[in-house]
Amino acid sequence: MLIAPSILNADNLNLAKEIAAAKEAGITRFHLDIMDGHFVPNLSFGPQLVQDFKKQFPDLEAEVHLMSSNLRGMLPDFVKAGADLIEFHYEADYANQIPGWLDYLHDSGVKAGIVLNPDTEIRVLKPLLPKLDQILIMTVYPGFGGQKFMEVAPSRIKAAKDLAGEIPIEVDGGINAETAKLAKEAGATVFVAGSYIFSQKAIDQQVAELKRILEE
Ligand code: DX5
Ligand code: ZN
Repeated sequence: MLIAPSILNADNLNLAKEIAAAKEAGITRFHLDIMDGHFVPNLSFGPQLVQDFKKQFPDLEAEVHLMSSNLRGMLPDFVKAGADLIEFHYEADYANQIPGWLDYLHDSGVKAGIVLNPDTEIRVLKPLLPKLDQILIMTVYPGFGGQKFMEVAPSRIKAAKDLAGEIPIEVDGGINAETAKLAKEAGATVFVAGSYIFSQKAIDQQVAELKRILEE
């Protein structure tokens, strides 16, 4: 079980402090949400954030969740910035282009993942499985932190798990102490949590509580 905090809702002017607090609590990977204001209706960070993150925290893994359909323009920038894993949306390009982008990431020495929006059929993953290091099942419509975990999510996680075998299934959106449990029971092993970790009580307490739930 791995918790990958999303810093989308962290305090932007105190990011290093907040990241360090989560690291102190045992976090080894961060989920960096890249939103382009077009593929999703919100703007967030660019490659510079990833580069600065790796510079300051070289021993932490940077997982980039790319919410843009400009794969040709953006993927090379995030590779150069030092991302360890890049996951992009299945909805971002024509189906016949997706395998090529996954190969591009692997050839660049970066792990590759595919993200599915809540309306995309799980079976589209099937031909891609040999090229996937991770599968991200969105449990909200992407764009904003602090949304509610969708009711349909557990059955989608389970369907993905049934297909994926050993490939880790990650969940993103509305993860808290209760929904993490549901997602885990359905087969998820990687848990993105944004507002649960960064906009409530102390960061270390939130991480510890989520860890405890996932280890039960
Ligand atoms: C949503 C982003 C998520 C988001 C999660 O579009 O992909 O990573 O920051 O935030 P919470 O955990 O608050 O739903
Ligand atoms: Zn995300």
